[in-house]
Amino acid sequence: MRYLTAGESHGKQLTTIVEGIPALMPLTTENINESLIRRQKGHGRGKRMQIEKDLVDIAGGVRHGYTLGSPIAMVVHNDDFKHWEDIMGEDPIDPDKDIRRKVTRPRPGHADLNGAMKYGHRDMRNILERSSARETAARVAAGAVAKTLLHHLGIEIVGYVNEIAGIKAKETDYSVKERIDISEASPVRCLDEEAGQQMMDAIDQAKKDGDSIGGVCEVFVKGMPAGIGSYVHYDRKLDGRIAGAVQSINAFKGVEFGIGFEAARKNGSQVHDEIAWEADKGYYRKTNRLGGFEGGMTTGMPIIVKGVMKPIPTLYKPLQSVDIETKEVFNASIERSDSCAVPAAAVVMEHVVAFEVAKALLEQFPHDQFPKLQKAVEDYREEIRCF
Ligand SMILES: Cc1cc2nc3c(=O)[nH]c(=O)nc-3n(C[C@H](O)[C@H](O)[C@H](O)COP(=O)(O)O)c2cc1C
Repeated sequence: MRYLTAGESHGKQLTTIVEGIPALMPLTTENINESLIRRQKGHGRGKRMQIEKDLVDIAGGVRHGYTLGSPIAMVVHNDDFKHWEDIMGEDPIDPDKDIRRKVTRPRPGHADLNGAMKYGHRDMRNILERSSARETAARVAAGAVAKTLLHHLGIEIVGYVNEIAGIKAKETDYSVKERIDISEASPVRCLDEEAGQQMMDAIDQAKKDGDSIGGVCEVFVKGMPAGIGSYVHYDRKLDGRIAGAVQSINAFKGVEFGIGFEAARKNGSQVHDEIAWEADKGYYRKTNRLGGFEGGMTTGMPIIVKGVMKPIPTLYKPLQSVDIETKEVFNASIERSDSCAVPAAAVVMEHVVAFEVAKALLEQFPHDQFPKLQKAVEDYREEIRCF
């Protein structure tokens, strides 16, 4: 199972191709649109989210509500493209003509300068159009397919916000359903209403100050059987793959499982989770401090993973930069920008984690037909319960 995305932020469309989904899995545009719409919400998003309503067009791999086993192609059209056609069009242009909205002032913290040097572009629009987090809409579409697969295997996943600008939500032991319902009702996707209000105030203040703020997202996965992933090779460790996928989200700077970095400050007896067994439940851990992983494999406890998002780089009160044409010191150029995208990033994180989890399941139980995959997972669950 793999996916590729293509498309620029102000280009014609975003395209996602997902390969490896078994045939006969129920899948509709609604499954994907629900996820895309969730990504666009959140207190602190800029004007662009009001201009565009992301809706998917499934262009291959699905017929009459079921997957065919062929690659699934998905397109998200850019409704605003008519205003960008001369700037972003694919046809050659007169080299003597001034290019509108050319970017020569790289933003500190963004991909502009490094990308321009690497690919040899003098107009950094060629970098920012693709390094923009608009691409995460295409990744959410891929993750929505994975989420649908997980749902039909009895595995539920939800992402929410734990912290914004140092304001932390209280820890909870809510069920998956409660986590979904509460985060969905919160403008900042926070499970703690009081902290959520303070987070909104902090976002408003950052906006007034022309600044940006970051935070911490958490993803919770319930229903994974034990033993998914593997300890035998570095690149089969599922926690490692999830960490890589989370770190690859734009502006993410770190990943933790369970108590995470706190484990460095505790004794082993305060970190490891004691093992128990009951006839109806099978094996379980009495606590879940390791966040659902031992030896690169799931323990059967919920996967709990956190991702740290830095404040987004585009600032209305810009930091110093250097114009690559004149070498003069300037304040970095302003693109339209959010002041805080942590709530949206929680949705992106939920979807990239879903993809890695689904991929690991399909590697362990390779089937071309979805009902056979469902049966294999059910049989395995029964086998390990009595192991
Ligand atoms: C959902 C989401 C929305 C984002 N929105 C913006 C934005 O409006 N302006 C901005 O400068 N960066 C934004 N970013 C972050 C940049 O895309 C990111 O910082 C940039 O690609 C450089 O990559 P790096 O921070 O991972 O090094 C956003 C990130 C996410 C996940």
